[in-house]
Amino acid sequence: MFAGRTDWNLTPNRVSEALARHRAAAKPLLDLTASNPTACGFLYDREAILRALSNPAALTYEPDAKGLEFARRTVAAYYAARNTEISVDDVLLTTSTSEAYSFIFGTICDPGDELLIPGPSYPLFDFLADIQDVKLIRYPLIYDQGWRTDFHALEQAITSRSRGVIVVHPNNPTGHFAKPAEIARLNKICSAREMAIIADEVFLDFALGENPPPSFAANRSVLTFALSGLSKISGLPQMKAAWLITSGPEPMKQQALARLEVIADTYLSMNAPVQLALPTFLEQRHSFRQQLLARVRKNLAELDRQIAQQKSCGRLHLEGGWYAVLRVPAMRSDEDLAIDLLAAKNVYVHPGHFYDFPSDGYLIVSLITPERDFAEGITRLLTIF
Ligand SMILES: Cc1ncc(COP(=O)(O)O)c(C=O)c1O
Repeated sequence: MFAGRTDWNLTPNRVSEALARHRAAAKPLLDLTASNPTACGFLYDREAILRALSNPAALTYEPDAKGLEFARRTVAAYYAARNTEISVDDVLLTTSTSEAYSFIFGTICDPGDELLIPGPSYPLFDFLADIQDVKLIRYPLIYDQGWRTDFHALEQAITSRSRGVIVVHPNNPTGHFAKPAEIARLNKICSAREMAIIADEVFLDFALGENPPPSFAANRSVLTFALSGLSKISGLPQMKAAWLITSGPEPMKQQALARLEVIADTYLSMNAPVQLALPTFLEQRHSFRQQLLARVRKNLAELDRQIAQQKSCGRLHLEGGWYAVLRVPAMRSDEDLAIDLLAAKNVYVHPGHFYDFPSDGYLIVSLITPERDFAEGITRLLTIF
């Protein structure tokens, strides 16, 4: 009756089960995984957002497979403001980066083809790949006072079925950016084997350093798809607006765009009110980014202050994004540790295992957690060791 690709094991994992029991028992909870920006106490220009949704132009249906040109211009202007020149013709709007991923997978992969994905990384790709019959092959990131790509392992993982490499820039949860030398090496590898680069840049605006890291959106030497959207940039995941920028050698880029346009035209999933509101929504990013970075910096400083007062735990270096990776004694599995923290301290964190860390001894906390909860949660967490 059902397709093999949907034969998923849908039983909740032990940590989710423990959390559900905890919540059902109405026990107090310090949630250090909070990642919904609309529920973390940030201030939004509510009037501007709501006003933007009542544009009378939304009463007319004027479908455009790539998205309304007016809205795509706003996206091109966002890149121009970061000194990345892109053409409005290379922008395609989608309802989420997840949708953009599935359009790309459908464009470059036949059933059984492979895509390389970083490990550790955000556990988003498995279902997307299953739905498109794509096989994911992990390439390891290595930590040595900072994260870098294991290019030897990446090259070894390439087969005749490999169609592209996914780069999360900065990666979630490791918080590191691809460095210029790494981008050059990736370009060389992909260009030699006719593979594409898929760059997930949803956290690109949240660098902790002074200089904004460059986007992949104008990467010209290989076929490249750069993904981002309002979920993170403006902290508006509920608006369901994202985009995908295609770049690369001309004939290949045009072919990719033509194929993507057919897929997008088949669904026409973007709605008019949100597209018309895109300039206003993108404008929100300035205030949102400022508040978010202030929160991340404050929580990080508090984390470092508490870590300095004990000897068992540390944190890994990070360059941007919303998360911190804690290094903790691997006396039990990360999963058991997360369950124990919930039961004994009412603190909820993610085990590194969720993000494909290669060994135990890692916990992930969200740096956008409201500050008081964060400080109290970290205090309780550190007392368990
Ligand atoms: C690295 C990364 N990419 C994509 C997404 C999903 O973004 P969207 O809401 O646009 O699908 C997330 C969500 O947390 C993410 O962490």
